[in-house]
Amino acid sequence: MKRLVSVSFVLIFGALALCAEDLKVAVLAPLSGAVPSFGQSMREGVLLAINEVNAKGGVLGRTIVPIIEDSQCSADSAVNAANKVINQDGVHYIIGEVCSSATIPVSEIANPAKVVVMTPDSTNANVTVNAAGKTKDYIFRACFIDPFQGKVLALFAKSRLKSKTAFILYDQSNDYTIGLSTTFEAQFTKDGGKIVGKESYTKIDADFSAILAKVKIAKPDVVFLPDYYNIVNLVCKQAKEKGITTNFIGGDGWDSPDLDLAADDGGYFSTHYSPSDTRPVVQNFIKNFGSAYKDDTGKPKVPDGVAVLAYDATNLLLAGIKAAGKDDTTAVKTALEKISFESVTGRISFDPYHNPIKSAVILKIKDGKVSFDSTIAP
Ligand code: PHE
Repeated sequence: MKRLVSVSFVLIFGALALCAEDLKVAVLAPLSGAVPSFGQSMREGVLLAINEVNAKGGVLGRTIVPIIEDSQCSADSAVNAANKVINQDGVHYIIGEVCSSATIPVSEIANPAKVVVMTPDSTNANVTVNAAGKTKDYIFRACFIDPFQGKVLALFAKSRLKSKTAFILYDQSNDYTIGLSTTFEAQFTKDGGKIVGKESYTKIDADFSAILAKVKIAKPDVVFLPDYYNIVNLVCKQAKEKGITTNFIGGDGWDSPDLDLAADDGGYFSTHYSPSDTRPVVQNFIKNFGSAYKDDTGKPKVPDGVAVLAYDATNLLLAGIKAAGKDDTTAVKTALEKISFESVTGRISFDPYHNPIKSAVILKIKDGKVSFDSTIAP
């Protein structure tokens, strides 16, 4: 009896001590909706980082506890999730979202509440900067931005694919595709290229035959399609059915295990890392990720761009908290502003707009495989 009492005493006090010590971090991930592969990869990357850090004693001696919300890559769901984790759960830190159109409204709630947001992969310029051009104090990201990515893709189209003419297709309801097409167009025309057509669609469109008919007539050297994998699969499949053989190119939104490699054959896209990068930090990460997660056939999963950036973003945020030495978001944001952090996707330190300066990788889709093509430095 005496033993039982003392065991339960230890258990109760142990549990209380643990609760007091927990450090909650919200994770806003698009687990359902149009792009669920982004949510799943993000969750896996974040949890791998958190488990590793917790196994080494956590941060500030506290265990990191993730609060995962399904934010669906949509502004409404992401705003609801942000309000819930800030007001009900009382979190001081948010990792997410993936999609720029969801992260921008989240940043507008979190910033005045002094909640630090670290988005792994939202690349639109307006994520960290407000309409007046001022940096949002508490908002950071672990990836490059679309003004750079659009430029990279325009340079790639001109110099590597030798394209003189381009046709742009973009979703007029998506900040990400709007931003990328704008910077692509500016750079491509600056370098003497010609835009021979520009057509928009919306998220709910599924039949692209009218705009693809225009592409067929315009005969561009390249089609720029900066959207997410779900739309890219649809458009490229319909283009092939129409007999369009032009190369399609796009940005990091193509990076998904659910990219249709047959439909998108001949395409190129920019992203944040290549699994064939031989740097030990990359190969180590791939090994650990593969031991933690298996695909449907039981083989080790190869992390995609979203997974690796989620891992980097989590470690970066936790390094910021550690450097601050306290769970105080003003101290954390100041520490992040000064940080120099070796991540899997490269060394991260922030410019005045809370954007890391990093290289982009171009991957190529050919014969059912995605392979490394080139790296483009800023
Ligand atoms: N960059 C995209 C956006 O801002 C999100 C994304 C990143 C998707 C990386 C896939 C891979 O909306």
